[in-house]
Amino acid sequence: FDTVDIIRTKRDRGVLSPEQIAWTIDAYTRGFIAEEQMAALNMAILLNGMNREEIAQWTAAMIASGERMDFSALRPAPGGPTDANGNKPTSDKHSTGGVGDKITLPLAPLVAVFGVAVPQLSGRGLGHTGGTLDKLEAIPGWRAALSNADMMAQLQDVGAVICAAGSGLAPADKKIYALRDVTGTVEAIPLIASSIMSKKIAEGTGSLVLDVKVGSGAFMKDLEQARELARTMVALGTDAGVKTVALLTDMSTPLGLTAGNAIEVEESVEVLAGGGPQDVVELTVRLAEEMLAAAGVSGADPAAALRDGRAMDVWRRMIRAQGGDPDAALPVAKESEVVYAPADGVLVGLDALSVGVAAWRLGAGRARKEDLVQAGAGVRLHAKPGATVKAGEPLMTLLTDTPERFERAKEALADAVLIAPEGARPANQLIMDR
Ligand code: URA
Repeated sequence: FDTVDIIRTKRDRGVLSPEQIAWTIDAYTRGFIAEEQMAALNMAILLNGMNREEIAQWTAAMIASGERMDFSALRPAPGGPTDANGNKPTSDKHSTGGVGDKITLPLAPLVAVFGVAVPQLSGRGLGHTGGTLDKLEAIPGWRAALSNADMMAQLQDVGAVICAAGSGLAPADKKIYALRDVTGTVEAIPLIASSIMSKKIAEGTGSLVLDVKVGSGAFMKDLEQARELARTMVALGTDAGVKTVALLTDMSTPLGLTAGNAIEVEESVEVLAGGGPQDVVELTVRLAEEMLAAAGVSGADPAAALRDGRAMDVWRRMIRAQGGDPDAALPVAKESEVVYAPADGVLVGLDALSVGVAAWRLGAGRARKEDLVQAGAGVRLHAKPGATVKAGEPLMTLLTDTPERFERAKEALADAVLIAPEGARPANQLIMDR
């Protein structure tokens, strides 16, 4: 094949053949297609799209670029559910990313309570969205890197594992994603859908629940775009034999009352202890119900497993299995500064993107891949949309080890808060569609 021909085909709104796509992904991964050629092709895809068959081929080629993991032979828990082959079922969740989205932390152990294995390969934060691995690394001793054999053993014994994806999983995606990041081609539905789904299909989960975020703090700012992304990913999973369901959920305001690393772990532990903010509990329970149903488990009551300590037991075993001490004190930021409500009324808006950028600037996130994050940094919220506030009351506390960061964090928050007269109600529902 000729790379320039392939780029021209997409530039002129043509359809690429399965052979052209398989060749392109393989040749690029092995270094035979130049970066500028792949960048041009990605831009043509962003502008002109791909049909369902092309997206499926692109995804299959990215899966074929690396290893496929296999968790299909786990023994069932005593008295626990089984899949069609008599083994322990597996289920995973993927969130397209948001602010304060710590749901994976309570969710993975909660689902494992019911005898379903959760192989949760997670990522680090980049930009204003947090990363599950950065959060868990706030726990003293906890390790993100596991071998495939360690992962398998932990899924058998504990039932839940949250760890980093190894370098062998979808290497084509790693290379293409890094290129998209610096060429303005991240926001293309075919490329996002194939990137996410190639990793989830290669990971070998039997079922998958997608939490597609909508709103200022998400990739997809509007409901229609998010719906198209969700439909594309559900079709890819279903065609690959993975039972796949998607929820569209609100990301116009942060989830819970914390955005950062250690403070999000602390809030997750509150949820596992049967408390925690109502929105975090609601989404955790709903996603657990969806994961269990997708894994073929009926009649489970995940809310009860949060209240009675069963999910907490699995959490403690999961953290210990990866070297962490679930009883250790979490790091605390050295400096704090309070932001006060500017007026009396009802808090109707607290913008997710602004809070995410503030937490990032305070040190909870990184600007370049090689940066270190501050475990204690972030934003603690004292009120959520719907609350009645009084002028001068604390609205948020900003946390960092490096106080010179407060100014830029406050700049990010300049238009974050919307207070309306008494009687007003915030607009958005948490779970927008399924
Ligand atoms: N997350 C991914 O893994 N890939 C994308 O393209 C976007 C979000």
